[in-house]
Amino acid sequence: MAGFFANLRNTVLAGFVLAAILLAYALRAQGYDATSFWMFIVRWCHIGSGIMWIGLLWYFNFVSTPTMPKIPAELKPALGKYITPAALWWFRWGAMSTLVFGLILAWQNGYLVQAYTLDFSEGMAGWPVVPKFLAIGIGMWFATIMWFNVWFLIWPNQQKALNIDGKYPDLPQAEKDAAAKTAGMFSRINTMLSIPMLFAMVSAGHLF
Ligand code: HEM
Repeated sequence: MAGFFANLRNTVLAGFVLAAILLAYALRAQGYDATSFWMFIVRWCHIGSGIMWIGLLWYFNFVSTPTMPKIPAELKPALGKYITPAALWWFRWGAMSTLVFGLILAWQNGYLVQAYTLDFSEGMAGWPVVPKFLAIGIGMWFATIMWFNVWFLIWPNQQKALNIDGKYPDLPQAEKDAAAKTAGMFSRINTMLSIPMLFAMVSAGHLF
């Protein structure tokens, strides 16, 4: 038993097998309808990816960064050399798959344009004409800005600060510090945005 759970791949596979059993039960109870089935699968992948992404964002902000000052100097390099680069891989690809599945979901729901135009596509008179489009649009804009921050501000600056993949072997310490500061600031901005983003995203389906 302990041997089984010592292996991450086995553990994740077991999770998928359990989910497949639940799916088989749902199909037996409800029958198969292609549209709602695929929308459900995309929504499930979207939320799973979102948990990977925002889970790591909150890990960086609630656990890793505040604990850093308490770590003895000789142990600090382990974080920058091994743990943070590995976390950043899951972090940025989690952000990418959340965005991709989210866009597919909006398209399946038939409101991709309406949401990204914050319902203005439905006309100015009596705006918002469909409050749900505005709510999901606000969530999608916040999350898209956060995705941009991950890929174009946090990741490149972390690469510089931590010399990830050996790309910046000779960068002066002052530039490394500046890069770490920029990455840290946008990570904080994303933490702030994650709260109303999630509110808007969940409210679209359940408050409106
Ligand atoms: C990156 C851009 C994103 C886009 C384009 C996007 C798009 C969407 C769309 C279209 C929905 C469907 C709402 C509905 O069917 O009523 C949705 C729901 C949802 N999204 Fe996102 N999303 C994004 C990011 C995120 C992130 C970062 C999270 C964090 C966990 C997240 C979590 C959720 C949740 C929990 C729902 C609610 C599902 C439900 O109530 O059934 N999304 N999103």
